[in-house]
Amino acid sequence: MPDRTKHLLGLLLGTEEDWPRAFETLVARLGPVRDPAGTEHALATERITVEPFDLRAKPRYDLVIDRLAYWYYVPREWLKKVALMDDVYLLNSPFTFQSMEKHAAYCAMMRLGLKVPPTWLVPYKNPVDHAKYAYTAAKYNEPFDLDAVAAEVGYPLFMKPYDGGAWRGVSRITDPAALHKAYDSSGEMLMHLQASVEGYDSFARSLTIGPETMVMRFQPEKPMHERYAVQHGFLSPDAGSEVVSISRLINAFFRWEFNSCESLVVGEEVYPIDYANACPDISITSLHYYFPWAIGALLKWSVFCAVTGRRARLDLDTRNYFEVADSQLDYDAKLAEYRKLADEYFDTAAYHEFCATSLPNVDNMVRDWVSSPDFDALLVDTVRTTYPPAEHDRFVAHFRGLIGLWIQEG
Ligand SMILES: Nc1ncnc2c1ncn2[C@@H]1O[C@H](COP(=O)(O)OP(=O)(O)OP(=O)(O)O)[C@@H](O)[C@H]1O
Ligand SMILES: [Mg+2]
Repeated sequence: MPDRTKHLLGLLLGTEEDWPRAFETLVARLGPVRDPAGTEHALATERITVEPFDLRAKPRYDLVIDRLAYWYYVPREWLKKVALMDDVYLLNSPFTFQSMEKHAAYCAMMRLGLKVPPTWLVPYKNPVDHAKYAYTAAKYNEPFDLDAVAAEVGYPLFMKPYDGGAWRGVSRITDPAALHKAYDSSGEMLMHLQASVEGYDSFARSLTIGPETMVMRFQPEKPMHERYAVQHGFLSPDAGSEVVSISRLINAFFRWEFNSCESLVVGEEVYPIDYANACPDISITSLHYYFPWAIGALLKWSVFCAVTGRRARLDLDTRNYFEVADSQLDYDAKLAEYRKLADEYFDTAAYHEFCATSLPNVDNMVRDWVSSPDFDALLVDTVRTTYPPAEHDRFVAHFRGLIGLWIQEG
């Protein structure tokens, strides 16, 4: 019988150092945790290395937080193995993460009745590199009128890859000349044309970790360190709650527990435009003021999952969501039902109860640490590795100011 009171939390990392160091420090500071039955559990962290593996080998990890597998396939395939064979708890299902890109997420959310802007998929500009392409295309590809598709979507529109990320190949298009130029340069990328949500009042980026969501005002036109604005109450209570429901719904639907979602808000209307961003960037230099919240949420959710022995749900229950979608309920009532399904998936009530009884001091502990010289040293190191020397002083002062604001407001 494996010891169910000792838990190793694995970190699968790329280039980041800041949040992993924060996470490791906080797990060490947390010490033993009592589960609801009063049994003491010990937690430790370890960075996972990449090496050959026997598909039948038993991993030592109870839970893995991954920021690497989205581009590196050795750990990606290892994650699938430990998910299928060893019940290692993963914050995002590696299966849906791979197969349900932006396009699948649009389809699912349209089916559920969300206000996804009108979106078309158009065939590749360049021939597909496959021996059967020429014959197939000659026989079955209908010639199509790109201008007619664009006119149907309406200008201005966005052309962007069906599986996008990091703004690769995204363009805002206002006329047919720009449309053809963008399509001609799309090459081997498979593109969507999507109606632009014009003149939005705010861009909400919501980061969700387990059943915790932070809705932040996002300014995509600004440099990295200014994209998340510190502004509370920028949405009405109703729109704010709608953004939270949509974020949790998407995550529960796809089995993503560490993901961010982008919505454009016009008056009281919420238009979700991008929400397949599993394992998003949570570095101090991006999240600044919101960093302590994010690292605290990651800590609490990971500890909850490991200590209570939460089982990963690799199976999907799409049909439950579709039943709500196909019912006679109106939009608000459907969202309320989706939120219930999401809360069931996340075991939200049990999570909050666990935080109150097994982790009663965790928020204070995070606050004490963020106020300590140890955190400041991490902040300084992070600035030094992120920016050129001439900018160090300015950015250290900038991020100290924002973190100071968070401490002060607590
Ligand atoms: N339908 C739309 N209406 C208005 N703006 C849009 C729309 N689609 C995309 N944009 C703008 O283009 C940006 C990039 O689009 P999108 O988020 O879909 O691409 P991405 O490659 O996933 O980017 P990222 O990785 O930064 O999230 C958005 O942040 C937004 O500013
Ligand atoms: Mg985006």
